[in-house]
Amino acid sequence: MEKPFSPACERNRDPILEVLKTVILPTDRRLIEIGTGTGQHAVYFAPHFKLLEWYPSDLSENIPGMKLWFKEAKLTNIQDPVRLDVSKDDFPKVKFDVVFTANTFHIMNWKECKSFMKLLGHRLREGSRATIYGPFKYKGEFTSESNAAFDESLKQKDPLMGIRSFEDVHSNMVKNGFELIHDHEMPANNRMLVYNRLKFEKHN
Ligand SMILES: C[S@@+](CC[C@H](N)C(=O)[O-])C[C@H]1O[C@@H](n2cnc3c(N)ncnc32)[C@H](O)[C@@H]1O
Repeated sequence: MEKPFSPACERNRDPILEVLKTVILPTDRRLIEIGTGTGQHAVYFAPHFKLLEWYPSDLSENIPGMKLWFKEAKLTNIQDPVRLDVSKDDFPKVKFDVVFTANTFHIMNWKECKSFMKLLGHRLREGSRATIYGPFKYKGEFTSESNAAFDESLKQKDPLMGIRSFEDVHSNMVKNGFELIHDHEMPANNRMLVYNRLKFEKHN
């Protein structure tokens, strides 16, 4: 098996890293990545945060490919990847300070997105952060023609895929106990949403 490769990861990794540097604190110890995909992001980011354990996760079909990247990189702060489907699995039973996910919301169907946000509310504690990278619509409008075309191509593949509305994501995050700290404009009409978990209350 050859290592899987995503050209998009090579293009977006530096701008994402710059945001992660503002989000990850020196006191943070564990980050879980949801929908790790090829593993390229984890391999690129983990060496920048040496005190942080990076927990990659994804559906089972992506685990063997990312393991090839991890084996080659020989990084001491990347954990063995875990199989995690946000619609039915829980996070590993440890405390996470940060959650990172890239380009997953338009792939997961909306029900899965909602399960994911519920899981975030359930598993993160006050002061932990959730970062969500990818394209979003605002007030019902795509932010570019290329995003509109991308949405159309996703829906042709699967009608349940598609670029999500920022307002829908935001209202669900608020419902699950988060406040938005920053909505970063990123290259290629992407965004990086950074949320902070508020004081724990029974939100859902
Ligand atoms: C477009 S890929 C993005 C991969 C990687 N994060 C990146 O930026 O290149 C979407 C990822 O979401 C994962 N995914 C889809 N549905 C999921 C679910 N229900 N739970 C967890 N991950 C899921 C896919 O397996 C895939 O790895």
